[in-house]
Order: sequence, then structure tokens, then C-alpha cells
Amino acid sequence: MGSKLIAPSILAADFANLQRDINMVNQSDADWFHIDIMDGVFVPNISFGMPVLQAIAKHAKKTIDVHLMIVDPDKYIKTFANLGSNILTVHYEACTHLHRTLQAIKTEGMQAGVALNPHTNINVLEDTINDIDLVCLMSVNPGFGGQSFIENTYNKIQQLKALINRKGASTKIEIDGGVTNKNAKQLVDAGANVLVAGSYVFNSDNQLETIKALKALANS
Ligand code: DX5
Ligand code: ZN
Repeated sequence: MGSKLIAPSILAADFANLQRDINMVNQSDADWFHIDIMDGVFVPNISFGMPVLQAIAKHAKKTIDVHLMIVDPDKYIKTFANLGSNILTVHYEACTHLHRTLQAIKTEGMQAGVALNPHTNINVLEDTINDIDLVCLMSVNPGFGGQSFIENTYNKIQQLKALINRKGASTKIEIDGGVTNKNAKQLVDAGANVLVAGSYVFNSDNQLETIKALKALANS
């Protein structure tokens, strides 16, 4: 098992066969379940909410990584903890009091993540990086699966890696959006620790093999 992690995004699963797709991830070389929660306000799309996460958590045998693309995430921290989230990621752009939000996530026993939109500079995390377990760099504009990867992400990974090293933090770097076998190796070489992949995994003919190959590539 390599140290670079693969997190299939359930947004791209077949919701009419959700238990089948969850079992596929359980049996695969993947490390985490990536769960996208969209509210139609922070992003121009609505995905799914608590009942669906509850159903997923009942069957998932791996770490549940919840990515909140919602306004006012503080309101729901306790709820997501109770639903079985292991990592709770909020958007920097949605948090007025980010430091307080991070503390609240940890108080509920979860790891705290912060996601940055493609336009948000790394330097906004200068004063919180030591409190963050995971930074999710959006490599597409959040809201939809199946979009093309934004190339500037490589620069952002390097800047974030430099910040983490300078501050002596142990924060993981997660890349979310447009990840495929074409960019996986370059992303981990730049400093990524976790690769989220939705449509690339779920639209493939052999999902188990696709995950296996992606994981091997990320750890090559
Ligand atoms: C985008 C979501 C992503 C998305 C990734 O708003 O946060 O997690 O599901 O999907 P792909 O891998 O298809 O770009
Ligand atoms: Zn996501």
C-alpha cells in the first residue's frame, strides 16, 4: 500500500445502484469515499443531503471524506459528525470565521479540511495552516463532475507545499476535479497526497481496474 491516496467521488456513482457502487469502492484499492454536498447557493448545483449520506455511511467501510459546498457550514457540523463523517471540508470562501469553524469540526471528533476555489490564493491559509488537516485544492470550479482540469493547479500545489513546509505543518493536500491517469503522476510529483476522481472512475468500463491503475500510478 502506497502513501498516496485515492478518493472516488460518489457524485459520479449510479444513484439507482448506490449500494453496488459503494461495495465496489469497499473492495477496491481506493482509500476514501469522497462525498460532495452542494446546496444550490454556494455552487450552482444541488447534489444530495443527509439521508443519502446516512445510507452511504451504513455500507462504507473506508474513511468518509465530506466536501461541503454550502453556505453557512457551521450550522451542520454536528449533524455531519453524527452521520459518520471522518473528515469535514468547508470552503474558505464560505467561512467568515474560519478558525472557529475548524475548531468546531475538531471538537466533534472529525479531521478538519479547507477547500480553495481555483481563484483563491494559497496565502489566505498563512495563519490557519497549522490547524488544518487537509487542504482540498479545487482543480475545477466546484459544482459539477466531469469538468476539465485547470493547469494552474500545479503551481498552487507547489505554493501550498512550500507553506506547509515553512510552517512545519502536517497538512495533506487533496486535488479535486478533472483527475485522470493523464495527470495523476504529475500531481503527486508536485506534492499532492490525495486524488479525488469521480467521472474518470465511475464512467470507466472496469472501475476496480481503473482505481487500481490510478493508485499504482500515484504511488509509482
Ligand atoms: C466538484 C466536486 C468534485 C467532483 C469531481 O464540485 O467537488 O468532487 O465530484 O468529479 P470529476 O472527477 O468528475 O471532476
Ligand atoms: Zn469534491
